[in-house]
This record gives sequence, structure tokens and C-alpha cells, in this order.
Amino acid sequence: MPEAKPTVRLLTYGCQMNEYDSELVASLLAENGYVLVDDHHPADIILVNTCAVRESANTRVYAQLSQWTHQKKEQPGLIVGVLGCIPQNLKDGLLEKFPGVDFVCGPDSYRRLPELIAHARAGGHEAAVDLSEYETYSDIAPLRVPGVNAWLAVMRGCDNFCSFCVVPFSRGRERSRTPESVLEETRQLTREGYKQVTLLGQNVNSYRSGDTDFAALIGQVAAVDGIERVRFTSPHPKDFPEHLIEVIAANPRICSHIHFPLQAGADRILKLMNRGYTLDDFLRLVEMMRAKIPNLALTTDIICGFPTETDADYQETVRAVSTVEFDSAFIFKYSEREGTPAAKRYPDDVPDDIKSERVTRLVALQREISATKNRAMIGQTVRVLIEGFSKKSPAVLRARTDSNKIVLFPTAPGLAVGDFCDVRISEVTPNTLLGQVV
Ligand code: 5AD
Ligand code: SF4
Repeated sequence: MPEAKPTVRLLTYGCQMNEYDSELVASLLAENGYVLVDDHHPADIILVNTCAVRESANTRVYAQLSQWTHQKKEQPGLIVGVLGCIPQNLKDGLLEKFPGVDFVCGPDSYRRLPELIAHARAGGHEAAVDLSEYETYSDIAPLRVPGVNAWLAVMRGCDNFCSFCVVPFSRGRERSRTPESVLEETRQLTREGYKQVTLLGQNVNSYRSGDTDFAALIGQVAAVDGIERVRFTSPHPKDFPEHLIEVIAANPRICSHIHFPLQAGADRILKLMNRGYTLDDFLRLVEMMRAKIPNLALTTDIICGFPTETDADYQETVRAVSTVEFDSAFIFKYSEREGTPAAKRYPDDVPDDIKSERVTRLVALQREISATKNRAMIGQTVRVLIEGFSKKSPAVLRARTDSNKIVLFPTAPGLAVGDFCDVRISEVTPNTLLGQVV
């Protein structure tokens, strides 16, 4: 009898880039004779792809690692590997902190995984945390989760060094893939039946390969036959070129949704954050986007309680959120990250209860804004792409508008996941639209 293939469970935390990376890791492991299994199956190897952007993400992973350390007592021979941004920052510190961890592997070292696993099975402990200026994994075909949307990383790394952010340290320098490799991967996606591609980069507008910038690239991706929708995330407000707005406006396949992270409303805080724009710059761009792109949805990220943020600074953020009226917003408490410029220069001096209160108030304001915007859609008919089923009922379909809003509606004969249809909106919540097929 041939020896059974070793089984691997791969858990993913964090951003879409991490989800994409896990698909690369899955592909690399499958090529090397491993079988990926889900949570319900016993695994010989457990890998966790981690996020380090806020302390809360670290805490969740640490709880998992403690649990697996216990599991190792009942399952001798179980291998535990930690991937991604946490080990890239902590390096072998993680091996010291959690003796149950066999190896760690940073985001530029995934090609070494088969070797790291083999080494661990022989009793070794290793930290593979070299960052690369060139690695883009262009030649690896990700083993994607089947569905409607496919992630596709067009660049990796970040050179912006926003003072609060650990990403430039955990993911290293910016590097872009060639347009040829991005287009070939897009064509492959259409052959596999994906309807939508989301182009990813820590900072997509920094994409550059020869003469091709991000605006040119996204235009070429949208021209691939069979791709129905193109999305992208995340751009940086300090370098959002006007011609990218024009490409989005001119191209019906590029979705009318821009995730546009503001972070703070007070210029003084934006400067301390090293964001490279003022609130006025941001508002001017928003105005230009809205003038040129019909029905544009704008979403954002905000941090509350950055060092030295006074109530007056916070009020400027509140005013900015009220002025822009984002469709939705991710609102975070500032979380000091070791090694970042902010951690080195500014004491984390806003008390935790004040940070929490600022977040709560801003979340409530944004919910009101989102609800009002959604209410205005009652009675409208929207074109949606069906992505799956509601979590609560298999009789209810879950779809998405071009502007990235989730729409739930009762299933109807002849409709399938991956289809487009028109839905008349009859009810709304701050996060969801409800309706019926017309
Ligand atoms: N504390 C809180 N939020 C952070 N983000 C990044 N770093 C931090 C931090 N140290 C947020 C930013 C970014 C989003 C992905 O995470 O808002 O846009
Ligand atoms: Fe972090 Fe700023 Fe780079 Fe985004 S642009 S990944 S917030 S450093």
C-alpha cells in the first residue's frame, strides 16, 4: 500500500492579501504531496497564516497556539507552523514564546514550506523570515476557494511607512508583477469560471512595471474576455491619479466602489501618521471621484485614539465622516505596534476607555449614515451578481451590487450562483439590502 499523504489544515487570519497568500501556500503544498483538509478532519500538520496589524489579531492567534500546544500532548508528532506577518515581526521570538510551535515562516519564504515541514518532522525548529525585494510568486497558480470572486495580488509590500503601520516591516519593500503574468492569471480565472477578480496590493497605486501603472493595468484586466467585474483594494489617497478615476469611470466592468482609507480628519494627526495628504486633499479627490464616477460607493478605514489625539482632533474626524458620508467604514482603536515609527516617537497616551468611546460614537454615526443611504435605495432596481446563499437560509440568495452592497432575496427558479439578475429593493438594514427578483 502506498503511504498516505500527510494532511494539512491551514487557517487564515487578516486581510484579503493573507487569503490570497493562503491560496498560494495551499498550491505549494498540494504540488509537494500534501493534502489540505478542513476543520472537521484530523490533520498531521496545522498551519496558521497570521495578521499583525493590531494587537487583537495577535491575541487571537496566541490563544490558538496555546490550544494546539495542549493538542500536541494528545497527538505526538503533530506539526504546528506559524506563517505570515506575526512571525515576520517576532522572528524566532515566537518559537521561544510558544514551545509547541515547530517552525515560523514569513510572507516571502513560502517556497521553503516543504523543506520547513520536513525539517520539523525530523525534530528541527526553524525561523524562515528573510524578506525579499523580488518575490512575487508570479509563477505559482493559487489553489483558490471555488466561488465567484478570485483574489489576485498585483504587487506586494509597502514603502509608505505610515507611522502606525507594521506592514512595511512585516511585508517588506514594494514590488510589482509584470502585466503579462497578471493578464495570464486573469485569463486562467475566466477558464475556471470566476466572474470577478479583485486586484490586491498593500498600496495598489504604487503598482508599476516598466511603463505600465495601475490605471493601465486595471484597464487591461477589465478587457479580458469573460471577466464581468473587476475590483481593487487598497489605494492610498496620497497618490490616487486622476487618470485612474477616468479609467474607472469609462469602464463598466470596473466596479464603482473605491475603498479610500482616510484614517483621521485632523491635519495635525494625518501629519503625525505620515499619510502625506491633508483633509482638503482627500475631500478634493472625493469630489472629483463623485463627479466622474456615477453611483460611486466610497468606504474607508479610520483609526481613533492615535497618540496625542485630543477631543478637538477627534471632532475633526467626526466632521469629516459626516461630510463625506461614506457608504461604510471600518473604525479601529489605535493599537501600538512594536518597531513602528509611531511606537518609537509617540507615547500611546490616549486612555483605552477614551479610544473605545470614540470608536463607539463614530460607529453609531456611520451606521446612521449607512442606514440613510440604504433607505434611499428602497424602491430601486439594482443589478447584482449572485455569490452564494444567506447564512441563515438556503432559500435566500446572497448577491452584491456593483457598488459592493450585499443584497439578500428569495431564490427563484433558474437562478444560480455566478448569475447576474435584477432585484427590486424593498427593505434595508445599515449593512444589507433586501428585495425580490424582478
Ligand atoms: N492600529 C489600529 N489600526 C491600524 N490599522 C493599521 N495599523 C493600525 C494600528 N496600528 C488599520 C488602518 C488600515 C487598516 C487595514 O488597519 O486603518 O487602513
Ligand atoms: Fe500600512 Fe500605510 Fe502601507 Fe497601508 S499604505 S500598508 S496603512 S504603511
